[in-house]
Amino acid sequence: NWEMGNFTEKEIVRIRKLVGDKAQVIGAVSGGVDSTVAARLMKEAIGDRFHAILVDTGLMRLNECQEVKKTLQEHLGINLTIVDGAELFFSRLAGVVEPEAKRKIIGETFIDLFEKEAIRIEEEAKETPRAGKVEWFLQGTLYADLIESLSFKGPSATIKSHHNVGGLPARMMNGQAQLKLIEPLRELFKDEVRAFGRQLGIHEDLVMRHPFPGPGIAIRILGEVTREHVEMVRKADHIFISMIKEAGIYNEMSQAYAALDTNRAVGVMGDSRVYGMICILRAVTSVDFMSAEPFEFPFQLLKNICRRIVNEVDGITRVVYDCTSKPPGTIELE
Ligand code: XMP
Repeated sequence: NWEMGNFTEKEIVRIRKLVGDKAQVIGAVSGGVDSTVAARLMKEAIGDRFHAILVDTGLMRLNECQEVKKTLQEHLGINLTIVDGAELFFSRLAGVVEPEAKRKIIGETFIDLFEKEAIRIEEEAKETPRAGKVEWFLQGTLYADLIESLSFKGPSATIKSHHNVGGLPARMMNGQAQLKLIEPLRELFKDEVRAFGRQLGIHEDLVMRHPFPGPGIAIRILGEVTREHVEMVRKADHIFISMIKEAGIYNEMSQAYAALDTNRAVGVMGDSRVYGMICILRAVTSVDFMSAEPFEFPFQLLKNICRRIVNEVDGITRVVYDCTSKPPGTIELE
């Protein structure tokens, strides 16, 4: 509509004015709609002077890294670097089960890798006289993210640390790099970002994609985060989401995912007793992600999903569906 069109153009003009015609910009992308829209906008405004960085934490969904690469690099033509951090994340997460400890390790490791990459790009820029210094750091922060992170710091004590807001900008701005923060989506709500994304030519599947948390699959594993556990969650999640899409109900829910309880339950397979882990399915509807209701699946579909997961994912013997609203539950498990 007219207002959105106006916004796109105005924002591009504003970015060009702010950044000027020499300075470079870096930004982290995740494959989600917010960071993709922000990156696409930046590319439109300043072309290759924008450098997107994708940190592969090893905690993303099945094939996600390759898909993000394809979309950003091939489809949207964005200048992208992928940093393979899986080994480092898994080694630092070994033996850690406490949710806040996991989040803290992931946040810090992410910043370590990102900062290293930012410094490399900065050094490279110094040797390329036609482009200027890296001066800006792009974040796809939305209005709602800012509200959530403020409420986390309220008097009722921290609920949980949010991986997007705070840590990364602080270090990019005050550390060695001394970057200025640029947040083109700061005043938008999710539905506005989606409309904006469509207008920028981003594929509908990506525009309508469910949100995925920064710490990734790690906060969907109750217990230790190991490669083996991540593989199990990935497979179960892939089955769950594919079957939701096949049923044509993906857009009816706000977020859906499979998680893993690493405690064990007994089952029978063939003639023998097996002792495996428990898959937890969660799907919610929500307007603003501050409150949510469990999605009401047709029961037969839910049973079919459970059967496929138990049959196809080695090590899982039970599947349960989480019917908790938010509040008192949260959307993620940790
Ligand atoms: P909760 O679990 O707090 O989640 O009800 C609300 C929304 O926020 C997402 N979420 C996160 N996103 N970093 C993120 O980028 C995080 O640390 C994080 N924690 C939760 C969650 O997926 C849901 O959409």
